Amino acid sequence: MSEPATSPADAAVPGGRDPKEIVREGYDRLSRAYRPDDFALQGSGYAHWIARLDARLGPGARVLDLGCGNGVPVVRELARRYAVTGLDLSPVQVERARALVPSARFVCADMSEAAFEPGSFEAVTAFFSIINLPVEEQPALFRRIAGWLVPGGVLLAVVGRVARTVTEKDWLGARGVPMFWSHADLATYWGWLEAAGFAVVEHGVEPRHGDPGFAVLIARKRG
Ligand SMILES: C[S@@+](CC[C@H](N)C(=O)[O-])C[C@H]1O[C@@H](n2cnc3c(N)ncnc32)[C@H](O)[C@@H]1O
Repeated sequence: MSEPATSPADAAVPGGRDPKEIVREGYDRLSRAYRPDDFALQGSGYAHWIARLDARLGPGARVLDLGCGNGVPVVRELARRYAVTGLDLSPVQVERARALVPSARFVCADMSEAAFEPGSFEAVTAFFSIINLPVEEQPALFRRIAGWLVPGGVLLAVVGRVARTVTEKDWLGARGVPMFWSHADLATYWGWLEAAGFAVVEHGVEPRHGDPGFAVLIARKRG
């Protein structure tokens, strides 16, 4: 499966800025605008996909949530029954997450550089976060995730449906706050996961009602 095509115009980052700096600064500045301290989980897409994950995990499972944001709703919900580690690039997001979900452990790091011992987790989740990582770094990330999981471990990832790399100018309507998005198409993700040692066991779309912009894949590490 080949790397996704992006047009040069789409791929350009204003002022030659590092896309990760754009992402970190954007979430630092707009953390609260993106997600308040609370979220109505019931009936949401998050609730649907967390239930699909629950069906595959036993109590006390070790779960890593990549790009955990402020920890609400995903880490907060998962921490009710699992040993959860949340990881995020944005110091503001991590600070809020530590206050909002004191029972979980949090790490402030770039997911593409994070290091965990082999077999550290029964599951890894990534809701709307891998799509902030430059697409050329994503295949290597899936290989790293496979290493962090136990054999038979599960990855739940929100990924792109259509290839697109773009820097939005005024994210969430905030003047002068850019945000960077980067993702491949669904077939490419499927291939990357297979190549990293996963078998895709479930897939769907998000949002589940309305016009779906993203795909959701649940994959099981072979072995
Ligand atoms: C759209 S938010 C989603 C937050 C949360 N997963 C949710 O669904 O509510 C994306 C999150 O991923 C984090 N993120 C983006 N790139 C990252 C990276 N390279 N390493 C770690 N976290 C990253 C951002 O800081 C942000 O908190």
